[in-house]
Amino acid sequence: MNRVEGVAKVTGQARYAYEYPVEGVCHAVAVQADIPRGEIIRVDAREALALPGVLAVLSCEGAPELADTSDYELALFQSRTVAYRGQIVAAVVAETLEIARQAQRLIKVTYRPGEFDVRLTGTHPGLYRPDKVNPAYPTDTGQGDVEAAMAAADSSVDVTYTTPALHNNPMEPHATLALWEDGDLTLYDSIQGVSTGRDSVAKVFGLPPEQVRVHAPHVGGGFGAKGSPRPNAILAAMCARAIRRPVKLAVTRQQMFSFTGYRTPTIQRVRLAADAGGLLTAVAHDVVEQTSRVTEFAEQTAIATRIMYGAPNRGTSHRLARLDVPTPSWMRAPGECPGMYALESAMDELAIECGLDPIELRIRNDPATAPESGKPFSSRNLVACLRAGAERFGWDGRDPRPGIRREGRWLVGTGVAASTYPVYRSPCRATARVGPDGRYTVAVAATDIGTGARTTLTLIAAAALGVPVERVTAEIGDSALPPAPVAGGSMGTGSWGSAVVLACRALRRALDEHAGAVPDTGIEAYGDTAEELAGQQDFARHAFGAQFAEVRVDTGTGEVRVSRLLGVFAAGRIINPKTARSQFIGGMTMGLGMALMEESVMDHEFGDYLNHDFAQYHVPTIADIRDIDAVWIEEDDAHLNPMGSKGIGEIGIVGTAAAIGNAVHHATGRRVRDLPIRIDRLVG
Ligand code: MOS
Repeated sequence: MNRVEGVAKVTGQARYAYEYPVEGVCHAVAVQADIPRGEIIRVDAREALALPGVLAVLSCEGAPELADTSDYELALFQSRTVAYRGQIVAAVVAETLEIARQAQRLIKVTYRPGEFDVRLTGTHPGLYRPDKVNPAYPTDTGQGDVEAAMAAADSSVDVTYTTPALHNNPMEPHATLALWEDGDLTLYDSIQGVSTGRDSVAKVFGLPPEQVRVHAPHVGGGFGAKGSPRPNAILAAMCARAIRRPVKLAVTRQQMFSFTGYRTPTIQRVRLAADAGGLLTAVAHDVVEQTSRVTEFAEQTAIATRIMYGAPNRGTSHRLARLDVPTPSWMRAPGECPGMYALESAMDELAIECGLDPIELRIRNDPATAPESGKPFSSRNLVACLRAGAERFGWDGRDPRPGIRREGRWLVGTGVAASTYPVYRSPCRATARVGPDGRYTVAVAATDIGTGARTTLTLIAAAALGVPVERVTAEIGDSALPPAPVAGGSMGTGSWGSAVVLACRALRRALDEHAGAVPDTGIEAYGDTAEELAGQQDFARHAFGAQFAEVRVDTGTGEVRVSRLLGVFAAGRIINPKTARSQFIGGMTMGLGMALMEESVMDHEFGDYLNHDFAQYHVPTIADIRDIDAVWIEEDDAHLNPMGSKGIGEIGIVGTAAAIGNAVHHATGRRVRDLPIRIDRLVG
């Protein structure tokens, strides 16, 4: 099914947060700290305030108090502390954006700078063990004796991989339009969750949630960066309250690299041991990553390693360094994405050590039950994905020797990697109603961040109601609708869709009671999944996939081109193939960026990520993508939700970077263990 809002989007009629026509709206611009750590001594706003059209300057000097300051990133102007370069230290509101930007440059902030540390190393003296990793996994796990298994192994690898900090760059940067009316706050915000967003904003301002309303009918991408309210939402609301007029604020592309989160850099040691038959005897994955000094964010990098392959001796660990950096945050497949890069690269290295085909090594070690928990999988079709992909990609007969296939000046190679992502679900409510005109409307505070969620919910509702999709409308993107979880963790469709199905079933029962006749007032019914979720049986629920890459490496320049990418996924029932394919290849494209281009470069002297724009932070574009395809296998899993679906928003990025890295090794014989695979790392 085509996107129901597709025409509205391509004709410019779909409104995004910044675009709502509101009478008398003013413009806010943020002023950012230009030291990485220290105290604000003084904010001199006199010159800025003297500029005609400037309405207010907010800073730690005389700022309105916020009711809750537990989230440092949202507690704007509540202290004089600077915890990272780029932190918002002041804001100016003016009649026009131009005046606000001019005034921004006239605000003088004086600091007492402090010593700072922004350098992550594997031996950082401050490394500590967090109590848990996101969202609530054990920090470390262990079984058996990894050291002894490594010593006794027929084949083994003990390798360290690094991944850089990565920044989310959705097409629409964060933006907020805020207005207050009689003490009630309305936000048009670019956010992934309107219910949870409303609750967080209400808490910061000390308001009951019903006094805050968040609208987000259209969101131009998020990837996790918009998972929770960012400072822009609080700032716009504070400014609007201060001047008693509506205020809007658009985060600039450069500011996207400062205060909207990023993926932590990682240093990952992977140890694998195998016997003569290629059966794993040990799997160990030890991760070092960073957090900020003000908030702990512990990326769950090694959790996929806990469920991927069987082995009697195993261990995972996470250690953090607190640095003077912005707090890391969510980015598409947090944990699984960087973690599976390391594990799946190491599996390729082990296959070579064992003299086994890398697909065969994975098949031999596919576990019958979840290796650490012992839980049965609700369904696990990694092997089927590997086999189907091998067939479609033309893997059979691959010569494993590296660096021997030449086409003119290009060396050619192929690589494979596995992918996985957990199936999460959160409680959700929805309503379904039918009007006297025979039109059906389902309502749920879901958000469509570009994924096609509105379309998929329309399909789900139509199927549950047994009516054509043309008669169904899905109302989403408004916190006044029945509360729903965030569009994150690949759980949107599963969570919202389940509530929609319950509401639609209830509506059908109600219609039956009316013998199918709709009264003048229509009928409304209600669904809540809380009870159903509480009763779910104990299964390990995960989507799986296999990624295949073919790369060409220019022998003269070291340039890497990905000539083919294929993903095969097992993600339960695929509800809307058209938008699903788009999610998969979108994830894979982002994975290509991770493999070859994306890297936020920390300058240790300056104390910040330097490449704050698309000229210097490279993401893949159309010209970087040649033959890309995503397919899926039929998977019938009764232990998920009424639709039988697993999430698909994130698994596409998992494994792509490893498949490309493994292909680069196959092409060249060079094993680059630090992402991205830059030319200097290949040629140097
Ligand atoms: Mo995604 S990082 O779960 O929004």
